[in-house]
Amino acid sequence: MVGRFSRMVVAMTIRMPRWFVGWVSRRYVAGSDLKDAVKVMHRLSKEDACFTIDVLGEEITTMDEATFFLEEYKRVITAISKNNFDANLSIKPTAFGLLLDSEKGMENIESLVSMANDHDMFVRLDMEDHRVTDDTIQVMLDMHEKGLTNVGVVLQARLFRTLDDIKNIAEKLGPNADYRICKGIYLEPDEISHTQRKPIIEATNSCIDAMLDAGAYVGIASHDHPVINHSLKALEQRKMGPNIDDPRENAGPKREQKGPGYEFQMLLGVRGPLRRKLSAKGHRTRVYIPYGEKWYEYSIRRLKENPTIGTQVAKAFLMPWTNRP
Ligand code: FDA
Repeated sequence: MVGRFSRMVVAMTIRMPRWFVGWVSRRYVAGSDLKDAVKVMHRLSKEDACFTIDVLGEEITTMDEATFFLEEYKRVITAISKNNFDANLSIKPTAFGLLLDSEKGMENIESLVSMANDHDMFVRLDMEDHRVTDDTIQVMLDMHEKGLTNVGVVLQARLFRTLDDIKNIAEKLGPNADYRICKGIYLEPDEISHTQRKPIIEATNSCIDAMLDAGAYVGIASHDHPVINHSLKALEQRKMGPNIDDPRENAGPKREQKGPGYEFQMLLGVRGPLRRKLSAKGHRTRVYIPYGEKWYEYSIRRLKENPTIGTQVAKAFLMPWTNRP
């Protein structure tokens, strides 16, 4: 029932004029330009949030487009430093050309991670669909091997493989592993992933436990109460929390410019009251801020990729109190 309703909302939305889609997406996307993202960071800094910036783009087809992303992200680093924001970068390795020309793609990523490193800034590799999971993890491992440890991946709990990935990465990186764990936006085939809500939540909670037990830094990226509540309990069991030095013996030395072993992460425009509540209790909270000229293509693609977002979009309009920005 929800699935059908959601699909109907998506089908209607993607047929609407561009201005309507813009109106729907404006709470989720900062705008078309870097200055829009800077404005949002100024506003949300007052709420004690920190940030990660995503330059929106579609799958690239030429290496010139990869150069555009490299240059634009370099502008982002400069803007973050100039404004002294507590912020980092979220990048998609494919946008840097990894699938078109792997050598040049790696060169582009290294160039960006290296500039970020010079500015004491972290770079998160967003995770795309299962076709690039191995490559994305490998990019992170290669960067660490080159001494660039300011980089970490996103893992998607819906994939069956993720607990093994956590184990393998822990063996290679130990306490230098820095994750964002999320359910995963892509609807993957049922041979490789959970497809139902309850098992996805259970898998997410198991991954959070495994990451915490491995001594890793854990960015908990969810707006879902069963995941947030589980995380709060898991932290308490490990005597972790706001304003407490990370007590885990396997966590390595204190991490500068990070939370005490964990942080909560949420998307711009989604469940602001929940984020502010966590922040008021002293938890570090990070807002994912997408911006870019390709906001229209991004919004449409997201809706098509995961039609359940349709329900969330409808809910945001029909019952705004359930999901205020
Ligand atoms: P769930 O989908 O159950 O959402 C709980 C509630 O939050 C909904 O009922 C709704 O009210 C609200 N909500 C959630 N998402 C919403 C949305 N998009 N619009 C409006 N309301 C929404 N995935 C991935 O595959 N690769 C990645 O790199 C990332 N990166 C990432 C970064 C950050 C900071 C976040 C928060 C999420 C991601 N994701 C992602 C997306 C993630 O995998 C997942 O699809 C969404 O976070 C939704 O899952 P929840 O755990 O929030 O639960």
